[in-house]
Amino acid sequence: MITYSVSQMPSKLNCLIVPLFEEKGMDSYIKSLDKEFGGVISDVLKSKDFEGKKLQTSLIYTKDKGISRILLIGLGKEKDLNVKKYKEVVGAAVMTCQNKKMDKLGFFVQPGLIKKYSAKKVGLDLSVASEVAAYAYDEHKTDKDAKVTKLKNIEFVGEFNVATKRGLEKGLEEGILVSSGVNFARHLGNTPPTIMTPEYLASEVQKNFKSIPKLNVKVLNKQEITKLGMGCLLAVARGSEHEPKFIIAEDWGADRKRKPTVLVGKGITFDSGGLSLKPGQFMTDMKFDMLGAASVIGAIKVAAELKLKKNIIALVPAAENMPSGTAFRPDDILKAMNGKTILVENTDAEGRLVLADGLSYASKYKPKEVIDLATLTGACMAALGLERSGLFTPEEKMNEKLSYVSNSVGEQLWRMPLGEEYSEAMKSEIADIKNMGGVGGERYGTASTAAAFLQVFTDYPWAHIDLASAIYGSKGKPWIRAGANGFGVQTLVEYLR
Ligand code: BES
Ligand code: MG
Ligand code: ZN
Repeated sequence: MITYSVSQMPSKLNCLIVPLFEEKGMDSYIKSLDKEFGGVISDVLKSKDFEGKKLQTSLIYTKDKGISRILLIGLGKEKDLNVKKYKEVVGAAVMTCQNKKMDKLGFFVQPGLIKKYSAKKVGLDLSVASEVAAYAYDEHKTDKDAKVTKLKNIEFVGEFNVATKRGLEKGLEEGILVSSGVNFARHLGNTPPTIMTPEYLASEVQKNFKSIPKLNVKVLNKQEITKLGMGCLLAVARGSEHEPKFIIAEDWGADRKRKPTVLVGKGITFDSGGLSLKPGQFMTDMKFDMLGAASVIGAIKVAAELKLKKNIIALVPAAENMPSGTAFRPDDILKAMNGKTILVENTDAEGRLVLADGLSYASKYKPKEVIDLATLTGACMAALGLERSGLFTPEEKMNEKLSYVSNSVGEQLWRMPLGEEYSEAMKSEIADIKNMGGVGGERYGTASTAAAFLQVFTDYPWAHIDLASAIYGSKGKPWIRAGANGFGVQTLVEYLR
């Protein structure tokens, strides 16, 4: 656990992080600090070793007993700064220090940013970016020295008045809750499929939500899933040793009479492709196929802990997609909970199948709106790359609001189309629909045809997010380590506020 504080005067630190804009001098606070340290910062700036370019760093040793190092880090040009970039710079600075085994950090907060975004927003972004940067999935490393340093304290320093100090502190407090949801989602995602089975996912939710009184959790087992007629979820799970689970978390934070917002997350704990087996190189990283689930679980946790006065439901159809003698087959015809029949053409198009039952179940709530999150198609990744997720919705209002809030937290969404041609492509001659289809070619427009498939199971305002950007893959970035990145949690929390 990192503790945070806000103060005018930095105390004893391993390092004070000073973010600087390109083509802009030091703030007056940094100027006076620089003077105190005999001009070490201005020396670096004069030398042009450091020009404030985004993510450029310079580490200065001060010979001071209180603050032994100063890390300059570039924010890039001031006019180009946005929330995403700011968080990346904050995260990169924290990770740089943590990688050098420092655990007591200071961070200078520019007065200009407080003016631009408000103290609370800056505090929120600072703690979320720091916590996200500090998180590492290293519990399987047996070499203690290979584990990352646990950060103890981060002190935010600068020229604050009573109001801005209080605003920052309030934001930091919220940021701790938000980031704990983000990192919980990442942790679930990073957990290997030997451990992360549908029953484990369900038990983790039950265990973690027990201490949050606002959250009710119910887990449906195979028998109950069968009784509800969730023929698709059952089929996808049939090849696995592990039974499917249907996880329901409810937060009735507002009047019960008010219609809830329902979040549905794809919870495939491992996607081998089933009998339509994936080739080896496409099977790695398929433990991440439950990141939609992880994000809705993380989001409802945060919403409950922030005590939002909203009615929110999170639904997770969870299964493992495996090939075996009992597995479902291409040519099978399945019946979803809403009665629609589906011809299976490819068992690797399993996400839409479990979501068919999840979205059908959502109808029970007569929801105000439903948002589903899913690592649904390789096509969406191919279209957008790993740093943006696809947004599909017929609702202009939901599109506007989701785009706005995602931008405000630094997560990138890009609207993709729904439409008749995609819906047509999913029709079947022998069942109501089929689980695969393209427009003008088998492989064309398949992120949209997948979304059009989901649309069949909605009878309420709905948006679908295809999580191309939920993983940063095996490499990580300067501001976040490899693995799941928790994409969607912050967007959903902002949306629900
Ligand atoms: N889980 C995959 C989609 C995916 C692929 C997510 C790569 C993240 C990275 C999904 O279940 C899948 O296999 N989709 C197929 C659908 C196809 C068979 C119609 C795909 O996208 O190739
Ligand atoms: Mg698949
Ligand atoms: Zn999948």
